[in-house]
Amino acid sequence: MIIEEKNRRDFLKFMRNGTIGASMATAFPGYLSAMDSPTWQKGISPTLKDNVILAKGLKYQPVISWEDPINEKETFGFNNDYTAFFPIGAKEAILWVNHEYPDPLFVCGKSDPSSKTKTDVIKEQESVGGSFIKIKQDNLGNWLPVKNDKSNRRISARTKIPFSAGIKVMGQDHAVGTLANCSGGVTPWGTVLTCEENYSDFYGEAKYNKTGSRKVDDQNIYGWRKFFNLPPEHYGWVVEANPKTGKVEKHTALGRFAHEGAAVVQLKDGRVVVYMGDDANDQCFYKFISSKKNSLDTGTLYVASLSKKRWLPLDRTKNKILKEYFKSDLDMLIQTRKAAALVGGTPMDRPEGSAIDPLNPGHIYLSLTNNKGRGNYFGYVAKFIEKNQDHTSEEFEYSTYIAGGKNGVLACPDNLAFDPKGNLWIATDISGSSIGKGNYSSFGNNSLFYIPLSGKNAGKPIRVASAPNEAEFTGPTFTPDGKTLFISVQHPGERTKSLENPTSKWAVKGDGIPRPTVIAISGF
Ligand code: FEO
Ligand code: CA
Ligand code: CA
Ligand code: CA
Repeated sequence: MIIEEKNRRDFLKFMRNGTIGASMATAFPGYLSAMDSPTWQKGISPTLKDNVILAKGLKYQPVISWEDPINEKETFGFNNDYTAFFPIGAKEAILWVNHEYPDPLFVCGKSDPSSKTKTDVIKEQESVGGSFIKIKQDNLGNWLPVKNDKSNRRISARTKIPFSAGIKVMGQDHAVGTLANCSGGVTPWGTVLTCEENYSDFYGEAKYNKTGSRKVDDQNIYGWRKFFNLPPEHYGWVVEANPKTGKVEKHTALGRFAHEGAAVVQLKDGRVVVYMGDDANDQCFYKFISSKKNSLDTGTLYVASLSKKRWLPLDRTKNKILKEYFKSDLDMLIQTRKAAALVGGTPMDRPEGSAIDPLNPGHIYLSLTNNKGRGNYFGYVAKFIEKNQDHTSEEFEYSTYIAGGKNGVLACPDNLAFDPKGNLWIATDISGSSIGKGNYSSFGNNSLFYIPLSGKNAGKPIRVASAPNEAEFTGPTFTPDGKTLFISVQHPGERTKSLENPTSKWAVKGDGIPRPTVIAISGF
């Protein structure tokens, strides 16, 4: 999600500011230490308080919540996740927000998929996908939506979305809708990438055997197939959306799997490299190198082999096994996991968020959130360094950067983001059923951590924000000036069994309903 050149410029600006700071420190003793360590960097202790708890010096304001009208016809969706900030001026921007999945109890009042009507399913379809909203900063510094602005639009599981480059999937040139929109990325040409993660919960999964025969395994989590018999192959892709025009398309070249997010970097020649985790137990980490500048239509997809420390191309022209197994490139991309296994991609502990260090080319961080089946309860953050710090390299170094765990301060890292100064931020995702219990009792509620990558505290996570009951902070995005952090409070009170007695009382609208809400944190 970071654009290399742009961040270098931001960093140089920061260094210039730093030089001014140093001369002031000579003139005014005490200035530098105060500047070096703002109070919020003292952090907070783990807590199970049912609220957004922030380190001293920080404050937050709700920006937008589930069901808030964005125009005459559309409302803000459920379970806000990834956010992306497209500045228009100093105090105006278009904010993109993913809506990952519905909570049937909140969205249509029914938990049992078999009791849903078609109207209920349509309501759920409308609650996922993403939102573009114009936001403005008022005189008090609060970022608020501009209702009815022409930029405001929803993309949902009902929007007609073409496949890019004229490709037909299952004989169709478009899909009905996007769903399971977890994390994402921003392209250098000013569009958002929204990633379809747990798509099989919606229309099931198509299972292929060796001979290519196909069977749909309906996992029936949300019960949508009963009313909409759509091909699972239309989901599990990276989807690109344009904040200016609203144009949306699905890219097949980046593979099909439980796409967590997409960390994008542009090469000097204009092509892009995209790093992507497949968030499931024992799945892989991928990178895509585009073949054309400013386009994701074509390119090569690679899977990481940790034993070989190499990126292995999923390329049928170079690999006999792939050529024989799949009848076309599209057939291979639809079954990316199978292709990764055939070439020897390394199964990992749920690859979640990834982020590219804006100050050190070729340095990539990846959250491995946990893998209980392998005895990994706490996860870790891994670091990849591309050979010669070259994002096109086929070789890399790999190490554990931060270990989660009982002796560590965090568990289950998920979303990663860099601020404009080159510090890393990590949001954690301990599951709602485990928070505060057993192995996880010392970690408190899910939290946001700040990790300086240089200086005496380099690599040490500092907890700066704690989420309400059962919630997870998702999609952290800093404004270019680093002064505001947009972040989603996703699924507060997710274990609620009755709307009369929600398991979180964090209700920003005062109506007793713990609504997924995007907040803006400031004071950095
Ligand atoms: Fe939707 Fe992998 O978190
Ligand atoms: Ca996630
Ligand atoms: Ca997660
Ligand atoms: Ca989540």
